[in-house]
Amino acid sequence: MIELIKKLPKAELHLHIEGSLEPELMFRLAKKNNIDIPYNDIEDVRRAYNFTNLQTFLDIYYAGANVLMTKDDFYDLTWEYILKCVEDNVIHTEIFFDPQTHTARGVPFAAVITGIKEALDDAKEKYGITSCIIMCFLRHLSQEEAFETLEEAMAFKDDIIGVGLDSSELGNPPAKFKEVFKKAKEAGFTLVAHAGEEADFSYIYEALNLLGISRIDHGVQSIKSAALMQRLKEEQMPLTVCPNSNIELKVFDSYQAHNIKALLDYGLNVSVNSDDPAYFKGYINQNFINLCENLPLTENDIITLVKNSFRSSFIDDELKEAYLARVDLALQ
Ligand code: ADE
Ligand code: ZN
Repeated sequence: MIELIKKLPKAELHLHIEGSLEPELMFRLAKKNNIDIPYNDIEDVRRAYNFTNLQTFLDIYYAGANVLMTKDDFYDLTWEYILKCVEDNVIHTEIFFDPQTHTARGVPFAAVITGIKEALDDAKEKYGITSCIIMCFLRHLSQEEAFETLEEAMAFKDDIIGVGLDSSELGNPPAKFKEVFKKAKEAGFTLVAHAGEEADFSYIYEALNLLGISRIDHGVQSIKSAALMQRLKEEQMPLTVCPNSNIELKVFDSYQAHNIKALLDYGLNVSVNSDDPAYFKGYINQNFINLCENLPLTENDIITLVKNSFRSSFIDDELKEAYLARVDLALQ
């Protein structure tokens, strides 16, 4: 099974580039940029990565992102993630970034997006890895601030395929961002949102009905509503599930208790993703391996999860077919 996981080409659809900041790079950038971080050494960092819920993680994740200051920092961050993609046979990736985390500290929007984009262009040239970039609004901030961010993003419209919604979910429902999502849609962005990660399934309904999203990030709480499950199945609405994240943030008590197999067996369009791999103990292959070691997933399940990742991606149909053919070829 592990061999199968490793040999299959994969797409990753739920990856926060700031969440791929490994402690080694964090220390290097902190020193270079003269930024204080609350850790003495790598061991110290690992000890701090002990989360009880989403918010305890976010506090540490935003503190870590403070070391990212220049275009080159964002290039290096993205390039390190690309090297993990090479290792894990990820041939297409759709990357989230949080502009507000950086612009609030005085880092120009242009430095962030250009650094990420240049690394992704080099990834295409050197490794043939394709990618797109999705900008997320921080939902703990106001809709007004999201509007300002959208305005700033318009100058980089060609480099950003979509708009998403992340950060503290509880108490910040999708409805809060209805108007800014409407404007993003009119501007031509594809829409996604984190929904039903920690908060209940009503957030998933809101994301679908009020924001008009075409992919749900996480969505694991959908299992609590039979009607919603039915709808997600009928629409084959993609759910980008992140197993390691769900365990580290205590959404489920254990891998054995994770519901991805149940969602899959019901016929939902789910894929496996790493979310914030530097914080959640592993990249995409490790997510698959942890599932296989703890749940009765079959080889066919693995193949379905991998094919779903391509089917649910935002690439054109021709490239989708080509990538699905590559999966079949790897299976021969
Ligand atoms: N930002 C980075 N990772 C996140 C997650 N899992 N949920 C919400 N916001 C995030
Ligand atoms: Zn996420």
